[in-house]
Amino acid sequence: MNLRKKSLADDYRGMKVLVSGGASFLGSALVELLLHSGAEVTVADNLSSGLLANLEAVKEDITFLQGDLRDRDFSMRATLDQQTVFHLAAAHGGRGYIDTHPVECTNNMLLDHMVFDAAAAAGAEKVVFASSACVYPTTLQADERDRHLLRESDANFEEPGKAFADGEYGWAKLMGELQLRAFHRQHLMDGIACRIFTAYGERENETHAVIALIAKAIARLDPFPIWGSGMQTRNFTYVADTVYGMALAGARLAGFHTINLGTDEHHTINELVALIFDRLEWHPRDFDYQLDKPVGVASRASENSKIEQLLGWSPDTGLREGLQRTIEWYKTFATPDRLSELKTRLLKRDGELG
Ligand SMILES: NC(=O)c1ccc[n+]([C@@H]2O[C@H](COP(=O)([O-])OP(=O)(O)OC[C@H]3O[C@@H](n4cnc5c(N)ncnc54)[C@H](O)[C@@H]3O)[C@@H](O)[C@H]2O)c1
Repeated sequence: MNLRKKSLADDYRGMKVLVSGGASFLGSALVELLLHSGAEVTVADNLSSGLLANLEAVKEDITFLQGDLRDRDFSMRATLDQQTVFHLAAAHGGRGYIDTHPVECTNNMLLDHMVFDAAAAAGAEKVVFASSACVYPTTLQADERDRHLLRESDANFEEPGKAFADGEYGWAKLMGELQLRAFHRQHLMDGIACRIFTAYGERENETHAVIALIAKAIARLDPFPIWGSGMQTRNFTYVADTVYGMALAGARLAGFHTINLGTDEHHTINELVALIFDRLEWHPRDFDYQLDKPVGVASRASENSKIEQLLGWSPDTGLREGLQRTIEWYKTFATPDRLSELKTRLLKRDGELG
């Protein structure tokens, strides 16, 4: 993968870090960046959705532990002697997955607690948690014409009315943040919750909108199916920017923080598909707007003043460039068999397809 060459060598050289869920889309990109920055990286993953192939390029440079982090012995083994734990393991997927797997999503509360507890017991100094924009109140994201930018204080544990998360997945991530704050309060372990907004890029799966839409376009589906009216907005952050923000937050922040990792650009899904079609030099004759499909909130983008002030982070890769890279990768990744299973793959991840 063409990861940006910025490294954080002064912060990570010789540091022992665990990346839970490191065989995932974001996890594997983070592993590459941390290795590039000189860290000693261990990955713990049960491969329920992650793929060993994602770690192929770095397999000689990491310690890989396969197991379920909800198992206490495995969690203790994985966190032993680690200074910083990047906790990305989760039951997670795009809207099609989280809407049809509420039980798996709530199970993340168990997984998060186990990992935080093991990290604290092992004496880890810091946990960086892959939280989500889904922690934000859906009431702030209910109107596609309202281009509200979500700021960290919009979801918090101090003020009444600041918790109304997005479905089981969002509530579980919010409770993950609360658990992490509890470990900080009681065990003084630093806890940084990165509220990741829709990331996209190489190695993401088709349950996520960007990859799903690229796949449908490469499969030349016409009429072109779009979930919902296509007027719902999202901000799209290229994978290298997301993991750089996580690594930077892990290096530079202490105490307990919630921090947005997204862009402040609202794009409708219709705008996104137009960009994809342009890059493929193909346009469908007609559209099939599927109003019965899950679409999530009507509008979502990130207010970035906190991360700009604290870390000087802003996204580097524009949507056009990121899409171009993602499309080039997907063309090589998507076999005809994979494309023929597209309908199933919009709802299920690799690990569930056997
Ligand atoms: N991709 C995004 O846009 C996005 C947005 C917000 C938050 N996040 C969060 O970032 C993290 C990574 O997401 P992703 O999109 O890269 O891929 P993903 O959701 O597929 O990654 C999760 C990883 O955790 C592993 N895993 C799941 N349960 C496990 C368990 N019990 N024990 C050990 N390993 C387990 C999976 O095999 C996989 O490798 C997740 O926590 C996700 O919730 C991602």
